[in-house]
Amino acid sequence: MYTTLHTTLTDNIFVITINRPDKLNAINRTVMSELGEAVNEIYVNKDIRGAVITGAGPKAFVAGADISEFQGLSAEEGEEMARKGQEIFERIEESPKPIIAAVNGFALGGGCELAMACHFRLCTPTARFGQPEVNLGIIPGYGGTQRLTRIVGKGKAIELMLTGRMMDAAEALQNGLVNYIIEPDELLTKSREILRIIAEKAPLAVAKIIECANLAEEGGLGDGFLFEQEAFGECFDTDDLKEGTSAFLEKRKPVFKGQ
Ligand code: COA
Repeated sequence: MYTTLHTTLTDNIFVITINRPDKLNAINRTVMSELGEAVNEIYVNKDIRGAVITGAGPKAFVAGADISEFQGLSAEEGEEMARKGQEIFERIEESPKPIIAAVNGFALGGGCELAMACHFRLCTPTARFGQPEVNLGIIPGYGGTQRLTRIVGKGKAIELMLTGRMMDAAEALQNGLVNYIIEPDELLTKSREILRIIAEKAPLAVAKIIECANLAEEGGLGDGFLFEQEAFGECFDTDDLKEGTSAFLEKRKPVFKGQ
């Protein structure tokens, strides 16, 4: 029923394979729209307890959004493209059932963004990750600027996005972008194995953990700043602050009482 995806459901595990190997599984409009439908299946089909997203062929997970569709787009059309992609990737991230990216080669641009929208990632030793959009005069548009920063940290993310360079599997592992490096013929088996372990857990608890982890990330920075402001203010109500500032001005050592 899909033209650019291949899907299977065995042992309650849904495997979505992006199937355009001759174009390194680049995400064109059809892939994106079919991916949206396949993700819906994960939500609504009670037989699905977990899912894997992977790419067809030996070379690529997904080598990015389909560059041939970029030409001639207006700013509004570009924004709309990003909005649609972000919506679908958000549905992946917010899925109450675990979704693993099994990265079997290049995961570039939209491919890296798709992998990052999944709950966690496994990859083969030859996998390559990157956000090379800057080479095309654009920026990541499917959530990459946000998710890469959260996953690998701001300095590393900015360096990767500004240079457009690729990370190999070892560097991805070292930076927490992938959980395991697995030989190609074991990649799906290992993904299934992990999902089978999760499938034995309480589904509501699994869903809540995903929701909470997503909230920790989303709220993290904003709430952290707010928390810091409030905590800073609260210090002004303490004797210790008076003691500390007085001691400094009086050029003596403070005696703190913890109140
Ligand atoms: N969009 C559209 N087509 C793509 C594509 C993309 N993102 N990535 C690869 N392809 C196509 C190539 O055009 C080529 O098609 P053709 O055989 O009809 O000419 C085919 O896939 C194979 O790719 P090719 O470049 O020949 O393979 P390679 O092994 O020499 O290089 C990459 C592999 C991944 C380094 C290279 O394909 C690449 O840089 N792709 C673009 C990555 C990118 O910028 N992604 C972000 C997009 S926003």
